[in-house]
Amino acid sequence: MGFTTGATASNFVGLAAARQEVLAQAGWDVAVTGLIGARPLRVFAGADRHAFVDLALRYLGLGLPVAVAADAQGEVAGGCPGRGDGCRSRSGHRVPPGRQLHSGSSDPLTEAAMIAHDRGAWVHVDGAFGLWAATSPRHRHLVAGLKTCDSWATDAHKTLDVPYDCGVAIVSRPEAVRAVFGVHTSYLQTTEHGPGDPFDKVPEFSRRARGVPVWAAPRSLGRSGVIALIDRLVQAAHTFAARLSGIPGVEVVNDVVFTQVCVSFGSDERTRNITARLLADGTTWMSGSHWAGRDVLRIAVSNWSTDAADVENSLQAIQRALAAEDAA
Ligand SMILES: Cc1ncc(COP(=O)(O)O)c(C=O)c1O
Repeated sequence: MGFTTGATASNFVGLAAARQEVLAQAGWDVAVTGLIGARPLRVFAGADRHAFVDLALRYLGLGLPVAVAADAQGEVAGGCPGRGDGCRSRSGHRVPPGRQLHSGSSDPLTEAAMIAHDRGAWVHVDGAFGLWAATSPRHRHLVAGLKTCDSWATDAHKTLDVPYDCGVAIVSRPEAVRAVFGVHTSYLQTTEHGPGDPFDKVPEFSRRARGVPVWAAPRSLGRSGVIALIDRLVQAAHTFAARLSGIPGVEVVNDVVFTQVCVSFGSDERTRNITARLLADGTTWMSGSHWAGRDVLRIAVSNWSTDAADVENSLQAIQRALAAEDAA
């Protein structure tokens, strides 16, 4: 496990380890020989993945992934990266999102890992905010199969709410990550094998001690406190969804399963206007976004201090924005 600036960098770490390992299986040590001349690698990722997965792949010289069709909630349908040619590849890795950033839904990880491992591929999970579902007995079914994957990216500065910047990269095969990021030089007294030092796990050498807040938050909250935090955030999302869907002309577009609620107020123009009025009101901050072919107000409940009163105030602010738009 290594600490990074955020999920983008953690995706980079997991995918770098994947590239190292998958090519090593083909007899190619990319850390020594480089990428030029290596057999082509194919990466499969959900069509509705976060754009920062592509950025991590770009850093690695792997280009755009093969997009795997997603269903209405952004989940990879059936869990297979193209059951034909793509699945036969022995030189691939695969990136299911830990949770889709608009719907909060997750790919079928068990099935994805089974299919990928059968073909010598690696499964990396972008779990920037959603990996934290695994801590809660009530919500861990949402990420069933996590353990069967090979590497995971998450952000402690998202759902756990420690200060920015605090990503976490977890890789099941320490030797692979060490082959990529391990540093050997005369004044660093390190061993050649095993999990390695902190600088053997991430791209940076000099950096602040991000592990300290990641240790401190669960240490002060305790297991039950972390679980209560996750459950509270999800409960707030359900409250938003229930109350908003009761207002005529308001549609909750996603199946709310985690902390994301996407709302349409009818036409795209009306949704954009109401979002702008809401942000100008200043009571709450929610982002305008575009998902599933329409403009939406995207609610992502992620601050530890959000309580029932905040949810109520935010709902009233949305209703004010709605009324103002209707009166305009
Ligand atoms: C699913 C997902 N992946 C990656 C990222 C990028 O994370 P970061 O900004 O910490 O690099 C985000 C950010 O919102 C995200 O939601």
